[in-house]
Amino acid sequence: MTTGQKAVVRDEALRDDDRRMPRHVAIIMDGNGRWAAARGLDRTFGHKKGVEALRTTVSHADKLGIEFLTLFSFSSENWSRPQTEVRQLMGLLRLFIRRDLADLHKANVRVRIIGARDDLAGDIRSLLDEAEELTRGNTGLNLVVAFNYGARNEIERAVRRLAEDVEAGRLKAADIDSAAIGSRLDTADIPDPELIIRTSGEQRLSNFLLWQAAYSEFVFLPVLWPDFSPEDLERAIDDYLGRDRRFGGLTTKGRAVP
Ligand code: FPP
Repeated sequence: MTTGQKAVVRDEALRDDDRRMPRHVAIIMDGNGRWAAARGLDRTFGHKKGVEALRTTVSHADKLGIEFLTLFSFSSENWSRPQTEVRQLMGLLRLFIRRDLADLHKANVRVRIIGARDDLAGDIRSLLDEAEELTRGNTGLNLVVAFNYGARNEIERAVRRLAEDVEAGRLKAADIDSAAIGSRLDTADIPDPELIIRTSGEQRLSNFLLWQAAYSEFVFLPVLWPDFSPEDLERAIDDYLGRDRRFGGLTTKGRAVP
C-alpha cells in the first residue's frame, strides 16, 4: 500500500474502485509458542508478547479504515492444552478487557465476541458482556474477538436453533436457506471476511469461520504472531488487493471476460 493510498483509505472513492479495501479482515494469530521457544523462553512469554501484537494490530486496522477485524484468540480445541496454558490464556483475556476496554471505548471501537460463551467461567462471561454492552453504540472499528470459538460448534448451535424454530412452527423446513442459517450464526450481522490472514507459515483454517470463509482470500505469512507488525498487515492487504475475485463467475477486476 502506498502512502498516498493510506491517506485516502477512509475515502468512499477507494471503496468504489475495483481495488477495494477489505471491509472485514480476520486473523489466525499463530506462532506464539514457537516465538518463545526460539528464545529459550516459556510459551507463556509468547502469549504475552502476542497480546502486544494484538494491540498494535487493532490500532493499525482502525487507522486503515477496516470496518471489522476478527481475531482468533482461543479455539474450542485449545482446552486440550496443558491446564497452566489454558489458565494463562483465560487470564490474558481478563487482563486485556480490564486494561484496554476504556481505551477501546474512547477510540470508538465496538467490541463483539463470537464463540460458545456458556462454557466460560462466570467472571469472564460478565467481562465479555460488559465489553459488548459498553461499546454497543460505537461506530468505529468492530473488533470481533473469537474466544472459545470453533466453526463446527457455531454451525451446530445454529442448526439446533433452526430445528427449534421448525419444531415450534416458526419456520418451514422448505424455507431454510443460506440467509436462515447465516442469521443464526454468531456472526449474524457481521459481513463475511474478504481476507483471512494466518501467521507462522501454517496453511490451514483450523475450524475458523468455515461458513463465512466461502469466498475469502487467504494470505499465509511466515512471520510468527508476536512479530506481526503494521507493515505485515499492509503487505497482506496489498496481496489481497492484487487478487482477482470472481465468486465462481467469469468476471475479472469488475470487467467481463470476453
Ligand atoms: C497460537 O499460538 C495462538 C493462540 C493459542 C491464541 C492467540 C492468543 C493470543 C494472541 C494471546 C491471547 C490474547 C487474548 C486477548 C486472550 P500457538 O500457541 O499455537 O503457537 P505455536 O503454534 O507456535 O505453539
